[in-house]
Amino acid sequence: MESLSHFHSISPFKDDILKGKVALITGGGSGIGFEISTQLGKHGAFVAIMGRRRNVLDSAVSQLQAQGIKAIGLEGDVRKNEDATRVVEMTVKHFGKLDILVNGAAGNFLVPAEDLSPNGFRTVLDIDSVGTFTMCHESLKYLKKGGPGRDSAVGGTILNISATLHYTASWYQIHVSAAKAAVDSLTRSLALEWGTDYDIRVNGIAPGPIEGTPGMSKLGPDEAKSKIGDMLPLYKLGERWDIAMAAVYLASDAGKYVNGTTLVVDNGLWLSRPRHIQKKVVQEISRAVERRSREAPVGTPTSKL
Ligand code: COA
Repeated sequence: MESLSHFHSISPFKDDILKGKVALITGGGSGIGFEISTQLGKHGAFVAIMGRRRNVLDSAVSQLQAQGIKAIGLEGDVRKNEDATRVVEMTVKHFGKLDILVNGAAGNFLVPAEDLSPNGFRTVLDIDSVGTFTMCHESLKYLKKGGPGRDSAVGGTILNISATLHYTASWYQIHVSAAKAAVDSLTRSLALEWGTDYDIRVNGIAPGPIEGTPGMSKLGPDEAKSKIGDMLPLYKLGERWDIAMAAVYLASDAGKYVNGTTLVVDNGLWLSRPRHIQKKVVQEISRAVERRSREAPVGTPTSKL
């Protein structure tokens, strides 16, 4: 029988749906960003990855090249404007254009709000929110319709990697929740402005917990992981592949009518809450309770039913 991981490595998409596209992925050297780089490459894109660590980039680029993907690694920090400008320019210089920008670079650590310094808060907003805006801003002239190497009617696309933390509230991640809320807001505002003016689609992906990522090892201490399934019934670890397939969908023409959305890829986890009453009990009592309440004279206290 085919193993699950082997099955999941087969893409349901045609392997040329991104043929000839040029993608720049920040944080593309490791974790989810690396899998997105790999899958965009396997579906035909040329890939530039941006990151802060030369050794991580070098190893990622050799792994991509070993799979026949045309890839380069560009050192830079999304917090530095000059790095953003240089990396975007070098991508275009090397591959001739830019079609897909993926903002994957992010910072995270668990900390109670009272122990987080304003500088710690600012650092994560700088990476996630300001960094995402900076990369979008520097890429605009290449992504807009009629930009260098591009058709006069067709713009490129942007994918912002987000989270679901801020849909409700999350313990010990006040900084990341705020940062990702801003990222989602950028996604919508740019989808409106740049979609209208430049034919650029801007979307996001909000991953759930993904196994084998830096995020999981930093944010999911082992003692918490063993109990989490009891509290969150929809808790199931995803694979990096799940997020990369969402990226292939949104970046390709399969997603050509999708603009301004953040696709949640988490098995429904953010909706998760413990079952407060067993299904069998509901099935047994629900109709009886309804019947009794219909038959009871108006004003009868429910406790008497
Ligand atoms: N708890 C509380 N505060 C923390 C912290 C922690 N675990 N880690 C960092 N900080 C604070 C620092 O104390 C500092 O604030 P201060 O000057 O008031 O003391 C501020 O955050 C900046 O820290 P510094 O280490 O100088 O930042 P950096 O630029 O070297 O690193 C981080 C940035 C902290 C976001 C680092 O975790 C990082 O590089 N992350 C990228 C990878 C990553 O997180 N991947 C997971 C993605 S889900």
